[in-house]
Amino acid sequence: MLFSDLSPAPPDAILGLTEAFKKDTNPDKINLGVGVYQDDDGLTPVMKCVKAAEERILASEKTKSYLPISGSAEYKSSVQNLIFGPDHEIIRSGRARTAHSPGGTGGLRIGAELIRQIRPDATVWMSTPTWANHPGIFAAAGFKQSSYPYYDAETKGLDFEGMRQSLAKVPAGDIVLLHVCCHNPSGVDLSGDQWKDLAAMASQQGWIPFLDFAYQGLGDDLEQDRSGLLRIAETVPELFVASSFSKNMGLYRERTGALTIIGPDASAADAAFSHLEKTIRVVYSNPPSHGGLIVSTVLNDPALRNQWEQEVVDIRDRIKSIRSEFVSKLKERGVGRDFSFIDSQKGMFSFSGLSDEQVAFLRESKGIYIVKGGRINVAGITTRNIEYLCDSVAEALG
Ligand code: LMR
Repeated sequence: MLFSDLSPAPPDAILGLTEAFKKDTNPDKINLGVGVYQDDDGLTPVMKCVKAAEERILASEKTKSYLPISGSAEYKSSVQNLIFGPDHEIIRSGRARTAHSPGGTGGLRIGAELIRQIRPDATVWMSTPTWANHPGIFAAAGFKQSSYPYYDAETKGLDFEGMRQSLAKVPAGDIVLLHVCCHNPSGVDLSGDQWKDLAAMASQQGWIPFLDFAYQGLGDDLEQDRSGLLRIAETVPELFVASSFSKNMGLYRERTGALTIIGPDASAADAAFSHLEKTIRVVYSNPPSHGGLIVSTVLNDPALRNQWEQEVVDIRDRIKSIRSEFVSKLKERGVGRDFSFIDSQKGMFSFSGLSDEQVAFLRESKGIYIVKGGRINVAGITTRNIEYLCDSVAEALG
């Protein structure tokens, strides 16, 4: 029998929490698990620019026929202009080729599948910690994995020396997965000089950066957030970028992401891209259209683009102000531990420093859902739930 001897798989470390949260009957429950933006009413509304774009699309869309294997030309060029900056030299040189993937996860997976065909013996190096889904994606594609230090629990900052020492041992041809901004789960990012160091190491040693760029615009701003990516792409001959509009355009369920491969020159990039298209064809054939249409409509219409940029600022500002409030309200409660580091972390997440026991206590006794390891989605905190949250965290810290 195929199924009868199977025991159930464990729930997903992040998405499984949302399922458990939905079933929880505690009226005070708070979901600080999955990385989905919520406004101060605890809602994840469709962005205004997206609604306006959808109205136009509904009125003008003429066909539901298939898209090309790698997506529409408009979407692909919108992605490149956003991740590199409009008309960047990397775009003009033809070194970058982009495919519309089903979300950032889809981009990571098709990138992994492509690498497996070219270099199946490569090891993929990941930060400690990293997004809970990264190891699973690369394991599913059959890769050996190794890790490099990243977050220092003592200083609540980056262990750059440890990271450097570990990456100095990476052999040519291995893959190093890096988070461009808003590191998930720690919220701790690399500085410009540190990116410069890594870019030099990658090009000297010959390892290949695979950049996960899921949070552009949620760190400092759309331009500043891409600076690490540019540093790598301008220095290193070959790399991958998985990007996503889940967070910065709120298109979570539309699965609107991309994989961009960058080669040493246009003809190498074209050859690699032809293999990528073959890979896509046997995995999901071609991408879903709707999210891509929204993106190209919003990004290429000056009024909608302005509206979008303002909506991204609003998201970022709310997250920043809730970080400060969380820190000061914990302090008000006389919590001994200094939580001020939360203020300087970037993006949606904060690595709270809560132990797995404290995380379990908050879930079981208070209905507060936090990812194991202590990652909290700061955007899940609202003016209505912050007092209860801080009381509960103070109690957990005892
Ligand atoms: C997260 O890290 O919570 C998000 O990226 C959602 C997901 O797919 O895990």
